[in-house]
Amino acid sequence: MERIQKKIAASGYCSRRKAEELITSGVVAVNGEIVTQLGTKVGQNDVITVSGEIIEKALKKYYVLYKPEGYISTTDDEKKRRTVIELIDSEVSIYPVGRLDYDTSGVLLLTNDGDFNQAMIHPKNSIEKVYEVTIKGFLRKETSYALMRGIKLDGTKTKPAKITQVKTNVEKATTKCLMTITEGRYHQVKRMFEAFNHEVIKLKRVRFGTITLDNLKKGEYRSLKPHEYKTLMQLTGIPTQQNR
Ligand code: URA
Repeated sequence: MERIQKKIAASGYCSRRKAEELITSGVVAVNGEIVTQLGTKVGQNDVITVSGEIIEKALKKYYVLYKPEGYISTTDDEKKRRTVIELIDSEVSIYPVGRLDYDTSGVLLLTNDGDFNQAMIHPKNSIEKVYEVTIKGFLRKETSYALMRGIKLDGTKTKPAKITQVKTNVEKATTKCLMTITEGRYHQVKRMFEAFNHEVIKLKRVRFGTITLDNLKKGEYRSLKPHEYKTLMQLTGIPTQQNR
């Protein structure tokens, strides 16, 4: 027997959080009976439906996209901007693992596996994200140390970060560096630099966990290889079907 929200997420239908919303909103039924109680246990032979549609055990899909600037990291956008989903030809519905801003480029994972998504974005799992950041102005050592130690954003301190490969462009009065963070707060990198009056003028994610852009060009994507999925999950310490 499994908790219903876990089972829906495991089917690849949506994330666990979305499944919880669907359950409490009264559109999920088990063997024809509406279930609104989170955590209701369901067995192998129970038929789960969402708004009357049967949830099939969908194939799990994992992609890495080199997100270009000018795309939004959601499945649809009310302002009708282009979404990252449009760049991927997938036979199942997928969604991005966390977000990159509209004007940020780089490594973006996409999946239909709710457990994988949660494992990758949960701050307790501390998956490293590395960004190539270009800022206005010259980065002082003190600023760099303060950013690495952590600064208050929305009342809580950011986790320790790393800043490496600092290069200044004297003519343009800009600085380029790599910043490694293990959280994914809203506009985190931009807000951290802006706290020291450095506007971020270019942002590119060059690594997510163990996944880099390697041979991808902007706008290109590929499926993750089974060993890449496994390595990412190993970073979280959560057992997977394959290594359980
Ligand atoms: N931090 C930001 O500010 N923007 C992103 O897109 C990613 C991290």
